[in-house]
Amino acid sequence: MNSNLTDIVFETPRLVARPWRLEDAEAGLNLYGDPEVVRFIGMQPITTHAGMLDMLERIQRRNEMFPRGMGGFATFERETGELVGNLLLKPLPGVSGSLTFDIEIGWHLRRSQWGRGFASEGGRGLLRYGFTTLGLDRLHAVVEPPNQRSLNVAKAIGLIHDGQTQRYYSGIELEHFQLDKAEWTTQQPAARRS
Ligand SMILES: CC(C)(COP(=O)(O)OP(=O)(O)OC[C@H]1O[C@@H](n2cnc3c(N)ncnc32)[C@H](O)[C@@H]1OP(=O)(O)O)[C@@H](O)C(=O)NCCC(=O)NCCS
Repeated sequence: MNSNLTDIVFETPRLVARPWRLEDAEAGLNLYGDPEVVRFIGMQPITTHAGMLDMLERIQRRNEMFPRGMGGFATFERETGELVGNLLLKPLPGVSGSLTFDIEIGWHLRRSQWGRGFASEGGRGLLRYGFTTLGLDRLHAVVEPPNQRSLNVAKAIGLIHDGQTQRYYSGIELEHFQLDKAEWTTQQPAARRS
């Protein structure tokens, strides 16, 4: 096993997700340094190694405040070991900044990895991880209305559109998707349900 991929959180056929490490700073810059990647996720591009290290330290501190098993996960292509992006499963922040009981799944991919089906594959992996490994009953996703690529991912993985909401993050209007475990289970091919 590649030592880069030892503390695996979940896997899909092509992807392996593990906690972020400080040594991921250089690769992380290729993700969060790109203005197109951060365009709809409420942050400015990170342009320096020190800035990326600071972000990774914040991710690590924040993950410790979340229920066990939740957070943002560095996700790699199994075959090449290349960083694909960040897959996340964590409590949604309310407008006041405090965490709600609604658990969000999300996907941030390096631009070079767009168009390969990795976000929908990773999103399906997050659903399986959340419903089976963590035993959650319901998962949510929120998307800025013009972020068509992310809307496509939410629909492709079977999330159900629930209109718009201003309940989360800064109160910005977001498209809201939800799926509960029973609905997800009925979507699975029969052979994979057990
Ligand atoms: C949102 C985001 C993750 C979507 O990435 P994406 O690559 O478009 O989505 P997918 O990985 O599901 O790939 C779908 C595309 O791959 C193609 N594809 C190629 N191989 C595929 C495969 N094996 N399986 C499925 N789709 C495949 C699909 O045809 C589709 O192509 P299209 O864009 O031409 O229609 C990406 O744009 C991103 O990281 N954006 C910046 C961060 C962001 O905004 N995140 C969302 C916040 S809510």
